[in-house]
Amino acid sequence: MTQIKSTPTNGQAPILAPFVNERVPGYHEFLPLQPQPIGSLLPADKFPQNEDPPKLFEPIEIRGVKFHNRLFVAPMCMYSADEGKPTDHHFVHHGSMAMRGWGSLMVEATAVVPEGRITPQDVGLWDDSQITSHKRIVDYVHGLRGHIGIQLAHAGRKASTLAPWVQRIAEDGGWNGGVVAREEEGGWPSNVVGPSPIAFDPKYPHPVEASSEYIADLKQSWLNAVERCKQIGYDFVEIHGAHGYLFHEFVDPISNKRTDQYGGSFENRIRLPLEVAKAIRAAWDGPLFYRLSASDWLEDVLGPEKAYPGQKEEWAFWGIQQTTLFVAKLAELGIDLVDVSSGGNDSRQKIKVQPAYQLPFAEHLKKHVPNVLIGAVGIITEPTQANDILEQGKADVVLLARQILRDIDFPLEAALELGAAVAPAVQYERAWSRMVVKREHTEAPVHHNGISEVEGEEGRSSERKAKRQPPPVVHQSVP
Ligand SMILES: Cc1cc2nc3c(=O)[nH]c(=O)nc-3n(C[C@H](O)[C@H](O)[C@H](O)COP(=O)(O)O)c2cc1C
Repeated sequence: MTQIKSTPTNGQAPILAPFVNERVPGYHEFLPLQPQPIGSLLPADKFPQNEDPPKLFEPIEIRGVKFHNRLFVAPMCMYSADEGKPTDHHFVHHGSMAMRGWGSLMVEATAVVPEGRITPQDVGLWDDSQITSHKRIVDYVHGLRGHIGIQLAHAGRKASTLAPWVQRIAEDGGWNGGVVAREEEGGWPSNVVGPSPIAFDPKYPHPVEASSEYIADLKQSWLNAVERCKQIGYDFVEIHGAHGYLFHEFVDPISNKRTDQYGGSFENRIRLPLEVAKAIRAAWDGPLFYRLSASDWLEDVLGPEKAYPGQKEEWAFWGIQQTTLFVAKLAELGIDLVDVSSGGNDSRQKIKVQPAYQLPFAEHLKKHVPNVLIGAVGIITEPTQANDILEQGKADVVLLARQILRDIDFPLEAALELGAAVAPAVQYERAWSRMVVKREHTEAPVHHNGISEVEGEEGRSSERKAKRQPPPVVHQSVP
């Protein structure tokens, strides 16, 4: 056949006839091949507005994985798993985000042992039977040329609780017996494990102290889950060390009163998470992230973090000073990115909620531990806000959670607002023609100072802006 050349409008290399709707090689059924990752910058020679792209859309490469932009999806529990297996809900949830151009997706807190689930319907990876349902999601995301990782977790003393909406319904109905999932509710209240036998608060299960045998087995369980991640094909692993779950409980003098090598001094308290992180680093070649709580937010309640200088145990609770020392150790052992969250280990916490309220912690760590990448998270809801965080060097990537649930198209809308042209999914490109208009570089909206005006075939950014809601004012307890 005569080879006819066609230059696609998206600036890709010429396609040769016959012009077929090409399929993703190796995918189990027909899936159209995306010419380039969804949400990645279109070539600047065809789209001059991309000559000096906003940092939000600059790719970032971590251990050979090239994330095509810096808008990362934060882990979000869905309380919708079946015996730890992700379900159709998870497939649709992640698949929909993968179609919308997020630079990275992340599967929610996934328990490495059954008693490490927050609720009975949490996702797990403690058994080989769970692999297939994870793989179905990962294969689809990869088929779309996206990237997806997983947050591995152990809920510690905050395990065996009811899903948030079940708690709400129970409380609305007059129940004041706490949040514990009892046996008849699928829970395991007598097998909840923490560093010490201290409950998070009276509404939570009363934990048993982790024995040294439990700790030894636990390390192996993390490694087994990581082996399963390899079989599934996850692009990265995040260790959940935040929000008052097991590793946060271990590092924190509030919840760790042990007298063995895993309690007492700062070095002893950080020992278990460091040992697990080190073992995972040795077993996993890909990007390895660590999510931590940088503060317990207890200064207003208990005074300074370092309360009794010179005393044997000089730390009153967990805060940014110990976090900084801890992050330096994580960086040393090869953690690639620290995902900086906060709170969750003490119900007396006084969180100062405002847009980007956790950013000062991220910025502090970025300044003091330069050899690790930093992710900022928490009430990041606007494209200019997200981009400014990166342009000002306060973090390397941003992670969003609730805004995604309100506005799944945020990456493409952000590109439009910041004046960049990125690839929509081929199946959806007719809805994004207003973004993929070619403009001269000089016509590009100013994206560095928050002002943007992009007009194309349809729509104006001002109309779009009106759709976005103001940031939430109430911050509920984070999973
Ligand atoms: C529905 C929901 C589920 C969440 N589940 C997790 C989780 O599995 N692991 C985790 O570390 N954080 C979890 N979080 C916290 C988010 O990852 C994020 O840190 C927090 O919501 C603040 O970001 P945002 O203001 O963009 O929502 C969850 C948040 C929401 C709203």
